[in-house]
Amino acid sequence: MSAYQIEEHSYDVVVVGAGGAGLRATLGMAEQGLKTACVTKVFPTRSHTVAAQGGIAASLSNMGPDSWQWHMYDTVKGSDWLGDADAMEYLAREAPKAVYELEHYGVPFSRTEDGKIYQRPFGGHTTEYGEGPPVQRTCAAADRTGHAMLHTLYGQSLKQKAEFYIEYFAIDLIMSDDGVCQGVLAWKLDDGTLHAFNAKMVVLATGGYGRAYFSATSAHTCTGDGNGMIARAGLPLQDMEFVQFHPTGIYGAGCLITEGARGEGGYLTNSEGERFMERYAPTYKDLASRDVVSRCMTIEIREGRGVGPNKDHIHLHLNHLPPETLKLRLPGISESAQVFSGVDVTREPIPVLPTVHYNMGGIPTNYWGEVLNADAENPDRVAPGLMAVGEAACASVHGANRLGSNSLIDLVVFGRAAAIRAGQVVDAGAPTPTLNRASVDKALERFDKLRNASGAVPTADLRLEMQKTMQEDAAVFRTDKTLAEGVRRMAAVATKMDDLQVTDRSLIWNSDLMETLELDNLMPNALTTIVSAEARKESRGAHAHEDYPDRDDKTWRKHTLAWVDGAKVSLDYRPVHTEPLTPADQGGIDPKKIAPKARVY
Ligand code: FUM
Repeated sequence: MSAYQIEEHSYDVVVVGAGGAGLRATLGMAEQGLKTACVTKVFPTRSHTVAAQGGIAASLSNMGPDSWQWHMYDTVKGSDWLGDADAMEYLAREAPKAVYELEHYGVPFSRTEDGKIYQRPFGGHTTEYGEGPPVQRTCAAADRTGHAMLHTLYGQSLKQKAEFYIEYFAIDLIMSDDGVCQGVLAWKLDDGTLHAFNAKMVVLATGGYGRAYFSATSAHTCTGDGNGMIARAGLPLQDMEFVQFHPTGIYGAGCLITEGARGEGGYLTNSEGERFMERYAPTYKDLASRDVVSRCMTIEIREGRGVGPNKDHIHLHLNHLPPETLKLRLPGISESAQVFSGVDVTREPIPVLPTVHYNMGGIPTNYWGEVLNADAENPDRVAPGLMAVGEAACASVHGANRLGSNSLIDLVVFGRAAAIRAGQVVDAGAPTPTLNRASVDKALERFDKLRNASGAVPTADLRLEMQKTMQEDAAVFRTDKTLAEGVRRMAAVATKMDDLQVTDRSLIWNSDLMETLELDNLMPNALTTIVSAEARKESRGAHAHEDYPDRDDKTWRKHTLAWVDGAKVSLDYRPVHTEPLTPADQGGIDPKKIAPKARVY
């Protein structure tokens, strides 16, 4: 592809993405003296982490007794026993350290009367291994925690002299013939130049793929770009069937109303004014795990007890809370409710609906963030030169369902872990690898083909068709019929990628081309989600299958692996890690405590 000039750059580490995980990894790498670049398609502080509201989970015990073992137990139960025990222990154990580091970097957390980090209750976080009352474990900066974190981490990364390539769109990984990642090819959006970043380690921190669905709390930039690159590199994606619906997206707009609203005392009602969660989850009620709450809301609506003229949503009440609490703890969502639904939260309930929020699945990694080129025979095989962190990754710490506020802690714990690991395996003195021209050419060919696509289907039309299909057929509740229909429809949608129509051929600020590249990334995410879901004949966490309402640990306590070739998806499975890292007699969790059992709240 000699038509394109490529500028080359050499680094020890290249991080792709500048959300919470990408910035924490970038900062950690740079702190260790690794020459680090962060390549990002949006300005760092506009990454989707900026929208994270309620907080970050860590057992600091600032508001009452807590322990990392209780946090781990809650995470295991929240995952519906699909998470990997080593990764879940690492998350819960390292969480307090990671949060205190954030505090020392300068994150302006809300404070208690005595100056400690303020913590609020969140769904599924409990005491005494699920036997005690809810715990206040979620550390918060009002309801703008992600915003506070991003600004702090970006400032700290600059201080450490990490180099930022802002508004560069990563096109594809550059791989050696024997499967070592050597770097990434990127397109500079504002001047149309192309750049090859040559690195000893590439870290994908590209976020989730919420925009494969029609209604999502995710930013429009959440297009699973790293997952797309992984799929095209012939590597598997893991547990893609598990898509989280947040109970309280604003009806119509889809914007997030934080679970912290219920943590501060908010509650849901149906058209009869009933606090229906008391019926479904008598102990934890509105603070049950979010997959449970989303299902209960959906049942209420399906059974005719939704609110509004069409009985198609639910009410979230905050109007009983003191106005000063709303102002101090929930200022952001009070404003969102006003702007997006015209509601004054001090007087009226907010209309809400379960809305796509988070992808538990993604790029398989171990708990150091190293990407796994896994299959049934080689379940823990590492893909050299490649790491993934944050929502793009599947460590697997959230299993079949993530607990609220375990996302922000995942970002910083595993961003930090990746930096620690890179410090061990990346030789800062060694030369960077020579780029494989064949891999660069392959990436350029795809780029050029999409740039010059002259078929009949505009990108926006095909994207909408994909989003509607996913929304209808891979929803909160699934059946054999809807999933089979979804597989058929998504295969037809994906085939239309060959008939795309891109009208702008330029290379400078070409949003038509950028959205087409994003669609090409979304497509393998959507395909693997629907095919993996169709194959899993049980209900677990966010995968609620009405024809198989029970969890089936004997057959299905395993991770799905999915490979994509065009519109075709093939599947395999790898075992769940059931062994924690620390033996019980050395302070670890008693394995009996995390043995599978019925999941009730
Ligand atoms: O409800 C929220 O504030 C979302 C938090 C999360 O997804 O972790």
